[in-house]
Amino acid sequence: MIASKCLRVYMAGLGVLSMWGCGSPSVKDSQWVTIDAKTASLLRAELPDSVQLVDSSPSRSVMTIANDSIGKVGAFMHETTHRCGGYFAFDNEEDAVAFHLNGDKMEQHLVGSSFTYTIDQNEVVNSLLAQVEPQSIIQTINHLSSYHNRYYTAASGSDSQNWLLSHWQELGQGRSDFSVELFQHNSWPQPSVIATIQGTEFPDEIIVIGGHGDSISGWFNQDRASAPGGDDNASGIASITEALRVLLKSDWRPKRTLKFMSYAAEEVGLKGSKEVARSFQASGKQVMGVMQLDMTAHVGARKLIGLMRDHTDDGLSDFTGALLNEYITEAWINDQCGYACSDHASWTAAGYPSVMPFEATYDETNSKIHTANDTISNADNTGEHSKKFSQLAIAFLVEISK
Ligand code: BES
Ligand code: ZN
Repeated sequence: MIASKCLRVYMAGLGVLSMWGCGSPSVKDSQWVTIDAKTASLLRAELPDSVQLVDSSPSRSVMTIANDSIGKVGAFMHETTHRCGGYFAFDNEEDAVAFHLNGDKMEQHLVGSSFTYTIDQNEVVNSLLAQVEPQSIIQTINHLSSYHNRYYTAASGSDSQNWLLSHWQELGQGRSDFSVELFQHNSWPQPSVIATIQGTEFPDEIIVIGGHGDSISGWFNQDRASAPGGDDNASGIASITEALRVLLKSDWRPKRTLKFMSYAAEEVGLKGSKEVARSFQASGKQVMGVMQLDMTAHVGARKLIGLMRDHTDDGLSDFTGALLNEYITEAWINDQCGYACSDHASWTAAGYPSVMPFEATYDETNSKIHTANDTISNADNTGEHSKKFSQLAIAFLVEISK
């Protein structure tokens, strides 16, 4: 796997360390992680002094990693599994075990179990899809990439989310069924942004489309590093913004409520989405489906869209595959990240069904991410690839909210 991505996962670990070091009442000496069972047993065999098993199931294990071994463990995992990181970190055992159990059960306790996903809105969907403009997507990517970085603790990281708040508000001017708000997080300054189109008949039933608004680059001084995050993930936010623009200017109204989200602090361990999904869970909100758009601008060598099947819901993923067949004339393939690679995992962990369509297969993804060279000129700068994800988002929202 490409080095840049792995540098970042390693930093996520250091981020946790520095947080503990700087303000927490008791400095902890290890962190809890969830990890696939095979890698867990390799780690236990190779680095017995660095890791300890806490809980396990046939597919996944909860372990602790000693803080002073995070670098060693990261390097070992990179070498043996040929991918980055691969674990989801928590600062207490309770959260790690809860994630572990939910992920295994794929429990959907807050969704009507009788809900079936169907495709029958072809006329309205196709007329909306025709209005998606690649140039509008590129404009949003360019604006978001113009911040020096969108790091969760940097002022520019908050500025970029505040810009998105006002941009989304402008798109909805004159719509009384539309609102946008910031979701503030207690432990860091960058907010998440949430826009809502209120459902006309079943407003308590929610469909979510989201991506992360933050960006990251390099190992050190990440709050000052140049991180345009053009593909990762200005592109996903731009695809979502374009879907929102098209829906808001149309006469179509959803029966169920639609929510559009730009999460804070994904790059440092899915922190923002974890808090958002948990707040939905805590207030008993019903979510019929969550789509994650994280990276939509790079075309892989085989020109395939990847449908990530891990940490996602099987039924909703099958449905998304059917939407791709019906509405997007593009080849796609089932694939997996192999770890909790983006915010869909936070929703899955909170018991909600999620999907993650992706720009390419995991192996053919953009090698520039997490560097100062993740710019749109190093990906598809025509906007045509990202356009397909705006269209898929529209089809998803219309067909579930009808
Ligand atoms: N956009 C990436 C996830 C990704 C990268 C998916 C490459 C598929 C291919 C995301 O922003 C990210 O960097 N995730 C982290 C893990 C997260 C828990 C911090 C990663 O992949 O290392
Ligand atoms: Zn990333």
